[in-house]
Amino acid sequence: MLADVVVDLQYGDCGKGKITNYLCSIEDYTHVIRYNGGCNAGHTIYHEGKKIVTHHIPCGVLHGIRSVIGPGCVLNVNQFFKEIDELEEAGINTKGLIKIASNVNIITDFHIAEDKKDTEIGTTKRGNGPAYRDKYGRKGVLARDVGMLEEYIIDMYTELHENEEFEEVKILFEGAQGFGLDIDWGDYPYVTSSHCTVGSAVLNGVPPSSIRRVWGVAKVYETYVGAKDFHGIEPELNLIREVGEEYGATTGRPRQVNWLDLDLIKKAVNINGVDTVVFNKTDVLDEVKTWMLYDGINAFHFDSGEDMNYYIQDYINKFKPETEVLFSGNKEII
Ligand code: IMO
Ligand code: MG
Repeated sequence: MLADVVVDLQYGDCGKGKITNYLCSIEDYTHVIRYNGGCNAGHTIYHEGKKIVTHHIPCGVLHGIRSVIGPGCVLNVNQFFKEIDELEEAGINTKGLIKIASNVNIITDFHIAEDKKDTEIGTTKRGNGPAYRDKYGRKGVLARDVGMLEEYIIDMYTELHENEEFEEVKILFEGAQGFGLDIDWGDYPYVTSSHCTVGSAVLNGVPPSSIRRVWGVAKVYETYVGAKDFHGIEPELNLIREVGEEYGATTGRPRQVNWLDLDLIKKAVNINGVDTVVFNKTDVLDEVKTWMLYDGINAFHFDSGEDMNYYIQDYINKFKPETEVLFSGNKEII
């Protein structure tokens, strides 16, 4: 068995869908597994000229790869069926490809109603927090007990460890949310209710030794959606929001924008053991013609994207020399 993992190094929305989609097109994975979160996630993929947004279902389905909602996730049943319909309408064949681990916890209407009252965290109001609370309070409803889901249910152990269909199980783990939103490593309480690191992927049923390569995804600037004050003061940041179309894929809320913080990247790379970092949306800064970043406290200005990228690469290679660092524009594949 081997597994590659896609993790977000910032506050979500860094292009996990794009990288997952790219890796599915070049590798022969047998499974793509979502390992955390629920339909608070919104992954936008441009596939064969179409814009596709998924919330629950891993992007592997676009490539005919078995796509599994792992036990680390929470699931909204209505949203799940809605998403299958949307994929089918977009011409994607989902038949027999989508699976749900039997022990996934269900997001109920009560969870959603409760989350809708949230004003303090600025959640996506998708019932995520209450569903995880009930999971860990051992009061949850499991997917295996929902009749409508029967044809999708799998036993995760058998699927991964006793699967005779495949010579070798090769997994791509598709993360949701990001390091800055992680329940333990994020800026608590302005976090989500699940684990967003590589450790979370391992919890979905694979041994740590199976992890082959970790892909960390970031943007050349930061965005965050939620209740805390995050947006920087420079007027260019508003321009970045417009040029980068920084509005939530799940809720449509305007994202708060700030400059890249290399200190956050350093922590996320070290904790996740990232092998390759992809910095997305370089074209946005090129269009706004402002290149700036922080290393925790100090601000640095650059005359060009090239100069800034060089600084970033050098910064990362100083603390983790073997790390591959890639830069990618919004419409580039990688
Ligand atoms: P993807 O997978 C960006 C944010 C919410 C809020 C906090 C808690 O698309 O990157 P929650 O509904 O999880 O209880 O909200 O986390 N948040 C995200 N922000 N991308 C996401 O997912 C997010 N999922 C949750 O805005 O601040
Ligand atoms: Mg998103």
